[in-house]
Amino acid sequence: MDFIAKIRKEGALKQGVICLPESGDPRTLDAAALLIRDNLVRKVVLVGREADVAPELEKRGVSLDKAAIVDPLTHEKRDAFILKFYEKRKKKGLTEAEAAEALKDPLYYAAMLLSEGDVDAAVAGAEHTTGDVLRAALQAVGLKEGMKTVSSVFVMVLKEKSFGEEGLLVLGDCAVVPDPTPEQLADIAVASAETTRNLLKTEPKVALMSFSTKGSASHERADKVVRAVDILRERNAGFAYDGELQADAALVDFVGAKKAPGSPVAGKANCLIFPSLEAGNIGYKLVQRLAGAEAVGPVIQGLKRPFNDLSRGCSVDDIVNTVCLALLNS
Ligand code: ACO
Repeated sequence: MDFIAKIRKEGALKQGVICLPESGDPRTLDAAALLIRDNLVRKVVLVGREADVAPELEKRGVSLDKAAIVDPLTHEKRDAFILKFYEKRKKKGLTEAEAAEALKDPLYYAAMLLSEGDVDAAVAGAEHTTGDVLRAALQAVGLKEGMKTVSSVFVMVLKEKSFGEEGLLVLGDCAVVPDPTPEQLADIAVASAETTRNLLKTEPKVALMSFSTKGSASHERADKVVRAVDILRERNAGFAYDGELQADAALVDFVGAKKAPGSPVAGKANCLIFPSLEAGNIGYKLVQRLAGAEAVGPVIQGLKRPFNDLSRGCSVDDIVNTVCLALLNS
């Protein structure tokens, strides 16, 4: 079974409640209909006005016993959510009036539904930027216990099966942290290793990448990656990792053996950590376009509860896959 089919099958086993806040987007409504029709979720919660959303669901033949519409202006928990959001953010100077204003925004309302356990996961980004989605999630959902950094990975489904885990490669961070510190790079490696284990069902082999392999170049940017590897060592990270490694040393057996002999990861990495968001974002898009790989994600990691982001160019299938990934992480 291919990776996408597997995600859908395993996501469906969760029978979760998913929140889709962008109810004005036709792809989101089509995805809601597909999720319900194919029995991939227990319920879809759409955020919006009943008068706008209900006819759209009816048009798509969605039975209302598997869909709920939450209007942020009239929902019975609105006052309680405003208070809870205010409590979370008051030390940052947020007033109660500002909390009420913020919770008119479907993204923030979805994040509160998620934070309060009314839904198992949320997915948005068909109409909003990654920054908008992440800010709502960071402010209202917050970080997972023991985590300091929210980040992301894509699972790349390659045509060439000799790389990674039979052609599956986890790439992080490609969407969130613009210029990670060594500590943040180590956090990204830890979270990506866990996601690799969860989604690929295999032991992670994590390469922290650079333009240098084991001191072949001397530059502060390579030193940052070396420091991140030291931090992983200090933390006794419970997975195989190594760095700094160039991409070919991480992925190709004979190059890895030559440039980083004895490395637990070189030549066989299944999880690649980029040193910056420029490298990560450009890197995954090059693999996607030039190698014809499927990019599944981004999977946002490090949040208390899963709120996944979409590309604004997403298809209905992308939304369905992202929902299944989010539920697998719930
Ligand atoms: N991990 C943990 N905490 C974070 C992170 C993070 N990655 N980023 C911000 N925070 C914290 C902030 O420190 C702040 O904490 P505080 O409220 O306790 O002070 C809180 O979260 C809220 O932060 P904001 O100030 O609202 O958000 P910020 O301006 O820091 O922006 C964001 C965060 C949106 C993630 C920003 O870093 C960003 O825009 N990243 C790039 C997103 C992007 O454009 N990606 C590329 C496209 S995606 C694609 O192509 C698939």
